[in-house]
Amino acid sequence: MYGLAKAWLFRKDAEEAHDLTLQLLRRYTDTPLALFWRQKVAPKPVKVMGIEFPNPVGLAAGLDKNGECIRAFEQMGFGFIEIGTITPRPQPGNPKPRLFRLPEKDAIINRMGFNNKGVDYLIEQVRQANFEGVLGINIGKNKDTPEENAVDDYVYCMRKVYPYATYITVNISSPNTPGLRSFQHGAALDKLLSILKKEQAALTTKHNKYVPLAVKIAPDLSDDELAAMATAFIKHDIDAVIATNTTLSRDAVVGLEHANEAGGLSGAVLFEDSTRIVRKLSGLLNGALPIIAVGGVDSYSAAKAKLAAGASLVQIYSGFIYQGPKLIPSIVNRL
Ligand SMILES: Cc1cc2nc3c(=O)[nH]c(=O)nc-3n(C[C@H](O)[C@H](O)[C@H](O)COP(=O)(O)O)c2cc1C
Repeated sequence: MYGLAKAWLFRKDAEEAHDLTLQLLRRYTDTPLALFWRQKVAPKPVKVMGIEFPNPVGLAAGLDKNGECIRAFEQMGFGFIEIGTITPRPQPGNPKPRLFRLPEKDAIINRMGFNNKGVDYLIEQVRQANFEGVLGINIGKNKDTPEENAVDDYVYCMRKVYPYATYITVNISSPNTPGLRSFQHGAALDKLLSILKKEQAALTTKHNKYVPLAVKIAPDLSDDELAAMATAFIKHDIDAVIATNTTLSRDAVVGLEHANEAGGLSGAVLFEDSTRIVRKLSGLLNGALPIIAVGGVDSYSAAKAKLAAGASLVQIYSGFIYQGPKLIPSIVNRL
């Protein structure tokens, strides 16, 4: 079934196809048409960050930025759903076109730039969804917030989403918001983590629940940078690392149409680099905190390799675009 839908969708501009799909999923969630994506997957419960996950395969951030299709993704069998990245205020993102398929390599390049409808809109969607599963909410900064005030944007979003999230992801690794990746290093990282952990403690008391904080990192990191980050995550008692976001490298797609578009590259071509990060990180962290692996998961064996490299959970984005909902049971049922 997805084969047919894909043939139709892939004839359209990539972003148009994406928007159309989300609109259809949203509109038909509670109708008989939902049988086209509703599927049963085997229960494979796993406990990570103190949270019970029904299975270890989740939807990665950025596909449902505004949380408009939570229930549809639940019906597909995802063990957890990460919505966002969301920012305090709505923002349009970068000029279009900003999303490109590289079908020869099952890859995607995007420079969306956190296009989203703002945190209040997302919260309204979450309220309406009445979702009882594991919901990650991924937070970021507005493009026009100066870097010196970026921490305020994270704190603002954290306060807003805290009552609704099962875990919160701090996105400091998108390549499409100028300056964002600088928060992965040195004093900027230290300050950000220290402020967010204080905020988490205050919110735990206020809401009488502990919501774990995960940090999402880039694949484009040297060994020294990664070691410094691991030390900071342990020092600040961060609850999980999500590895990785998209890459700036184009080595794997040289010569292909769209390969030179600016933005982050994802999909099968990211698998090796992002798995290398997971493996290194796993050695550095030595079990101090869990790793959620994302980057090029497009099969059972790819998911297995992420777990073998030290991850406790996996997420998928590009693999889902190229293969559709079937990918979820094809991984989960064999785990
Ligand atoms: C179009 C697109 C938009 C994305 N938007 C976000 C985002 O808003 N926040 C985020 O943390 N990651 C975002 N990502 C990154 C994915 O969550 C994921 O980390 C990356 O694509 C690697 O996984 P994959 O190879 O399975 O796609 C986006 C990826 C794509 C392709």
